[in-house]
Amino acid sequence: MVNSNYPWPDARITVSLFPASLPKRGSQFDLAIAVAILGAAGVVPAERLASFSFLGELGLDGRLRPVRGILPSVLSTAKEGDVTVVVVPTANAAEAALVPDVKVVPVRDLRQLAEWLRRGDDPPEPPTPEPPPPTTTSEVRPSVDLADVVGQPLGRRALEVCAAGGHNLWLLGPPGTGKTLLAERLPTLLPDLPLDHALEVTAIHSVAGVLPPDSPMMSRPPFVAPHHTATPAAIVGGGSTIIRPGAASLAHRGVLFLDEAPEFQRYVLDSLRQPLESGYVTVSRAAGSVTFPARFMLVLAANPCPCAQPQEGDQTCRCTPVVKRRYLGKLSGPLLDRIDMKVTVARSSRRELMADRHFVETSEVVAARVKAARARTASRLSGTPWRTNAEVPSPALHTDYRPAADAMKPLTVSLDTGTLSTRGLDRIIRVAWTLTDLAGKERPEVEEVSTALALWLGVG
Ligand SMILES: Nc1ncnc2c1ncn2[C@@H]1O[C@H](COP(=O)(O)OP(=O)(O)OP(=O)(O)O)[C@@H](O)[C@H]1O
Ligand SMILES: [Mg+2]
Ligand SMILES: [Zn+2]
Repeated sequence: MVNSNYPWPDARITVSLFPASLPKRGSQFDLAIAVAILGAAGVVPAERLASFSFLGELGLDGRLRPVRGILPSVLSTAKEGDVTVVVVPTANAAEAALVPDVKVVPVRDLRQLAEWLRRGDDPPEPPTPEPPPPTTTSEVRPSVDLADVVGQPLGRRALEVCAAGGHNLWLLGPPGTGKTLLAERLPTLLPDLPLDHALEVTAIHSVAGVLPPDSPMMSRPPFVAPHHTATPAAIVGGGSTIIRPGAASLAHRGVLFLDEAPEFQRYVLDSLRQPLESGYVTVSRAAGSVTFPARFMLVLAANPCPCAQPQEGDQTCRCTPVVKRRYLGKLSGPLLDRIDMKVTVARSSRRELMADRHFVETSEVVAARVKAARARTASRLSGTPWRTNAEVPSPALHTDYRPAADAMKPLTVSLDTGTLSTRGLDRIIRVAWTLTDLAGKERPEVEEVSTALALWLGVG
């Protein structure tokens, strides 16, 4: 304030931030506190302040600096309803302007803002330009295409089902068979995000501070592939003072890809169980606990053993069965229970590869089928909060969306012998619905249910 040439009030100042029960961190309150002091000191008319919301960090030179999390802050301001004008640092203006029905006033420094408040005229700068158009499909679908993958018809089909229903996938196979290649092409099959999802995804990236400032709106499903050395905090979120979202939340409404999955710390893998079940993660720290959305499609890729040598041929793998079992054992149990489809990718022979070349489909062709299937799902689920089959909760699967009794026949044996858990049963029903939607049928039949069972068991 002094550096902006305003007198510092000759008084003791008490600043109260309430509710006191909410932990408050970060620099985004700077501007509001400074403006409140200017108002209390009579430098700016205090009664004008009530109709605005102020966000931003104040530098010692009086300049405003951008802060993280502008989008969710402005979204919640808009939800409150009584304030419709938000003052933000210029560098945050494009992001703030993504929120409909809110007027954004970008300001450069404290002096510019205070003079404007004193004059009471139009905002200091022309209103923010229209938000830039969302990045178009062609820009974000660069060179990768499903047609790059030859052979692996099962893997490609699994990706299509995954994309159509929002399911989780495990790709198992020897090195160099195209597991990474396949997984990286899943986003090319997914449709653009609807506006409400795009805002959710953008808000999370805003809090994480990773939005591109020039075109902030994220309209494509994110693809997040953390390295296997990632810490639990990097995956589910964390931090000592300010809790930030992790990879699981950055992948919200998109794909979380764990390549070489057994190499991840077991604790990290297990921490994904909560979001896989509920669609959000809760991070608890001394500073408080924070819940972030985390509804992602999980794709795991794994080699059958730690040596990553071919299973046949000259340089063969010498890992003992015990070593192999221990290696994949890291993924076992409750985590794999939550994986809808387990697909083994094998090395294709040269002949298979040559033959397959004539059948490869481009991402565009497959994405069109995915879109049609998703439209069928959406019309069946209209009037519910769910848009993909993966989101349908268990009770609904056993009432409104339960397949006919004779279609469920393939499951009875597995249920009776205990190879199938109730969680597994639900996942199979969801995949069966997706296969139904891809086939353009009305209800799942034996064919869809048995295919879904095979995909769940991993014998496909
Ligand atoms: N089915 C395939 N179609 C086309 N190229 C392939 C295929 N499989 C492997 N390749 C080629 O081999 C390279 C390695 O493939 P990729 O990284 O996907 O294998 P991977 O199964 O993930 O192996 P690793 O287990 O070693 O990670 C690719 O960059 C690609 O050039
Ligand atoms: Mg790989
Ligand atoms: Zn081995």
